[in-house]
Amino acid sequence: MFNLYSRTVWLNSDGNAHSHSSTNEDVILRLSGVEKVYPNGTRALKGVSFDVPRGSFLAVIGLSGSGKSTMLRCINRIHEPTGGEIVFNGQSMRQLSARDLCRVRQNIGMVFQHFNLIKRRDVLTNVLSGRLGQMSEMPFGGIFRKWPKEWIDEAQEALKLVGIPDKAFVRADGLSGGQQQRVAIARTLMQKPQLLLADEPVASLDPATSNSVMQYLKLLNEKHGVTVICNLHFLSLVREYATHVVALRGGEKVFEGKPQDITEQWFKDIYGEQAKEVEIH
Ligand SMILES: Nc1ncnc2c1ncn2[C@@H]1O[C@H](COP(=O)(O)OP(=O)(O)OP(=O)(O)O)[C@@H](O)[C@H]1O
Ligand SMILES: [Mg+2]
Repeated sequence: MFNLYSRTVWLNSDGNAHSHSSTNEDVILRLSGVEKVYPNGTRALKGVSFDVPRGSFLAVIGLSGSGKSTMLRCINRIHEPTGGEIVFNGQSMRQLSARDLCRVRQNIGMVFQHFNLIKRRDVLTNVLSGRLGQMSEMPFGGIFRKWPKEWIDEAQEALKLVGIPDKAFVRADGLSGGQQQRVAIARTLMQKPQLLLADEPVASLDPATSNSVMQYLKLLNEKHGVTVICNLHFLSLVREYATHVVALRGGEKVFEGKPQDITEQWFKDIYGEQAKEVEIH
C-alpha cells in the first residue's frame, strides 16, 4: 500500500529535482509545480506547490477565477493536472491505475457548495452512500441493496452528530440548504476519509448556518482526525476555523502561512488594492 517512510525526489515548478526526506506522517498531501491548462487553453494553475500537514484545516482563498476549484479537482483527479506532481500519503496520484485511483479516492471525501445529494432519495440513503466505495467490491453493490444493520446504526449516529437525527426518512430535497450540507457531512462521516476537500461548502448559506456547518467540518477535523482543505470566500471564517492558509491569484500561489499572518497588505496583494474585507460571524 502506501509508502509511509520514504526518501523521494520531487520536481520543482521549474523542473529541478530536489531531494526531500520526510516521514509522511507529517505531510498527507504534497503539491509540486502543479499545472492545469484546460482544453480551451485557459491556464488555471501555474506551478502551484505546497505541503498539507496531516490533521490541518487548510483554507484556500483567492478571487473568483483564481483556480481554487480547479486545484481541489486536480487533487483527486476529477480534473487531470497537465503538469507537476501530487503526492497523497507518499504515493504519486499520477501513477495510479484506475483501480488504485478508486481505492485512493475512498480516502478523499468531497463536500460541494451545492451539496450534491441524491435529491429523490431519503437522507439515510444519502448518508449510507458514503460507504458505496466500500460496497462496490461486493456483488450486487449499489444504492438499491440492503444495507448492513450496523451501517444503518452508524448512519443514524452520524445524523445525530450533525444535529438532524429526525430527518433520516425525509427526502433530501425536502431539507433546507444548511440541513442538506449537514447530510453531506454525515455522508463524509460514513466514508471516513483521511482527507476532505470542501469547495465553498457554505457559499449558499446564511451567516448563522454557515457557522454551524463550519463547526461540523471542524468537528470532523479535530475529533475524527480528518485533514480538511476548504475553499472559502470569507476571511473571518478562515481566521476562525483554519489552521493554515494558501492563497491563489491568477493560478499562482501568492501566500502560504497561518490565518493570523494575513495582514492588510497581504489582503490587498491577494484580493487587489480596491478590495475591502467583509465579515461574516
Ligand atoms: N472546465 C473548464 N474549462 C475551461 N476553463 C475553465 C474550466 N473550469 C474553470 N475554468 C477557468 O479556470 C480558471 C479558474 O477557475 P476556477 O473555477 O478554478 O476558479 P475559482 O477560484 O474556483 O473561482 P470561484 O471563486 O468563482 O469559484 C478560470 O479562468 C475559469 O474560467
Ligand atoms: Mg470555485
